[in-house]
Amino acid sequence: GTTLGGAAAETGRYYGAAIAAYKLSDSQYVGILDREFNAVTPENEMKWDATEPTQGQFRYTGADQIVSHAQAHGMRVRGHTLLWHAQQPGWAQNLSGTALRSAAINHVTQVATHFKGKIYAWDVVNEAFADGSSGARRDSNLQRTGNDWIEAAFRAARAADPGAKLCYNDYNTDGVNAKSTGVYNMVRDFKARGVPIDCVGFQSHLGTGMPGDYQANLQRFADLGVDVQITELDIEQGSNQATLYGNVTRACLAVSRCTGITVWGIRDSDSWRTGQNPLLFDGGGNRKPAYTAVLNAL
Ligand code: XIL
Repeated sequence: GTTLGGAAAETGRYYGAAIAAYKLSDSQYVGILDREFNAVTPENEMKWDATEPTQGQFRYTGADQIVSHAQAHGMRVRGHTLLWHAQQPGWAQNLSGTALRSAAINHVTQVATHFKGKIYAWDVVNEAFADGSSGARRDSNLQRTGNDWIEAAFRAARAADPGAKLCYNDYNTDGVNAKSTGVYNMVRDFKARGVPIDCVGFQSHLGTGMPGDYQANLQRFADLGVDVQITELDIEQGSNQATLYGNVTRACLAVSRCTGITVWGIRDSDSWRTGQNPLLFDGGGNRKPAYTAVLNAL
């Protein structure tokens, strides 16, 4: 293949990018998107604050623009994200207990229903585990509604859109460590009890190194019977950026249930990691050495 998406498709995978609806009028940006990528993730447009700014009043303008663009260009859409402790609307931040639980499940149902049939995979729940050595859930307003909030969200998402793959997504879970093992134990428990979960997303916001057991970690999740995806890849610019991008690509390809990779932005100037130049294209839209390393590895 001569493009990222084309090369990934040769093994049945996708190569995606996080995109912003307001940039769809930037011809350089859209030119790269349409040439190189066969999947997209809305960077912010499907989050709770964007889709339900007032309780019970849903707004899908930006998200619908992205989904329309994807459909017109044959790209898969990763829905991101139904429930997360961050980027909640103020009204939700001010709820707790059964009022918050009902609002959260209603949010899952409404948003998943709106996009029914159009989403390849939903990040149903994002970042619900704590950093550090506890392997425990993160404290959050959602967690305080009861430990079963995650499975309740997955069941509601399945009921609303049975065709979408349902993922759990997190960061600092890219190697074998206490946090990823906490997620692993949850997924194993969900599979044992029939809670609907199909995939696990590994954000992979990497610095200038990566865990030596990156591939082994993907494989242990795949062995539980879920797909795995690299969902928000970006790698701090350093002398080894291209090498690391190649290594991540090869790790995914070595795991048969690793179904795709998404980079968290297109050009360095689009990145949320200001000044770290962590993406595959420079600010002028030119392919970087990291791009060539990925293409050669696919
Ligand atoms: C980031 C976006 O890139 C920014 O534009 C926004 O201001 C904050 O969120 N983990 C996630 C993503 O799951 O949703 C975050 O995206 C980056 C970290």
